[in-house]
Amino acid sequence: MNKAGSILRPVPGTISLTAPALMAYNLLFLLSCIAFVSSSSHAYVYPPLVEGLSFTFYKSTCPDLESIVRSYLEQLFQSDISVASGLLRLHFHDCFVQGCDGSILLDGSFSGPDEKDATPNLTLRPAAFKAINELQTLITQACGPVVSCADITALAARDSVRLSGGPDYEVPLGRRDGLSYATMEEVLSFIPPPTSNVTDLIDLFGKLDLDAYDLVSLSGAHTIGIAHCASFENRLFPAQDPTLDQTFAENLYLTCPVANTSNTTVLDVRSPDAFDDEYYVDLLNRQGLFTSDQGLYTDARTQPTVTVFAVDQSLFFEKFVYSMTKMGQLSVLTGDQGEIRKNCSAINAVDDFLWSVVDGDGGESKLL
Ligand code: HEM
Repeated sequence: MNKAGSILRPVPGTISLTAPALMAYNLLFLLSCIAFVSSSSHAYVYPPLVEGLSFTFYKSTCPDLESIVRSYLEQLFQSDISVASGLLRLHFHDCFVQGCDGSILLDGSFSGPDEKDATPNLTLRPAAFKAINELQTLITQACGPVVSCADITALAARDSVRLSGGPDYEVPLGRRDGLSYATMEEVLSFIPPPTSNVTDLIDLFGKLDLDAYDLVSLSGAHTIGIAHCASFENRLFPAQDPTLDQTFAENLYLTCPVANTSNTTVLDVRSPDAFDDEYYVDLLNRQGLFTSDQGLYTDARTQPTVTVFAVDQSLFFEKFVYSMTKMGQLSVLTGDQGEIRKNCSAINAVDDFLWSVVDGDGGESKLL
């Protein structure tokens, strides 16, 4: 069904795309990718893989890894689907701050408050951290201590997307866990606040070699999950943001009647638990929750991409996979860098510090 003719309620300034324009956009997107289809079993286009990562990294050392992760999460989500959004956000917060090295999972710090205590991380879900630790226990029981916590986090994010109805993509593996904590300052510099405008976001993403397309597609992760009033009350108090749809705003005031409440609401008002492209339809209808979300539609640099994703979910999925794979490879540690943590919440003790010699693609690890 063509959403442009159904769910999509026109709002002032909406661009309507003709079929040729859509085809041209698709073509442009594909050409702009450095085409890399790793094998016929991968339906999506992936960016080039960082040296040291591969889709088959644990093929010999932990062949059941992906099925262990998926079946654990399938079961968990049956009782609580909300952990899916928590796991997806966890991977983002891991990767944006000093790379996808599992440092977000660490308790405590060498000195001062830990990475988890930085303001943007306070709303990460305890259930998501717990799921990673339980997964690690299961994986270690099956394969020994060969799989990094950073890889488990990346796989859990993928399965959260998939099990919520999103694309089923391949995850390059072989990340190693970091040996250092990120500071509060680093977290604040790299996790953008929801009050950011598009210029701020493009600048920040640019520092990580992510472009404006990546910004729009990765923001589509806000198709699942929730937010606290504190994250969007700048749009309600002291005065209502004029870019908010009136009915949507009235409902937000019911959730957050005054400033500083701890209530929550869903990020995607149309389909809060489903990974789909309705988030972009929200934006077209001025029902984006954060300044950073709605700005993607009001800013001319990102509006065409929002508009096209709102009517073409397959294209959104393709681009999301591409951008997630870029994000998932940010400053990764590979080979003999870092370690395989025995416990995702703590750096290995010095005694059991030196784990592995990585043996080719199989990533074989052994105690020295
Ligand atoms: C573009 C800049 C981004 C900003 C400013 C932003 C900001 C936020 C904020 C403020 C929240 C709600 C926190 C709360 O009040 O509880 C949130 C939730 C969330 N974010 Fe983002 N985010 C961004 C990008 C991303 C990316 C790239 C991803 C993943 C690829 C992501 C995934 C999520 C998810 C899934 C949730 C819901 C979490 C839950 O239900 O527990 N976000 N984000």
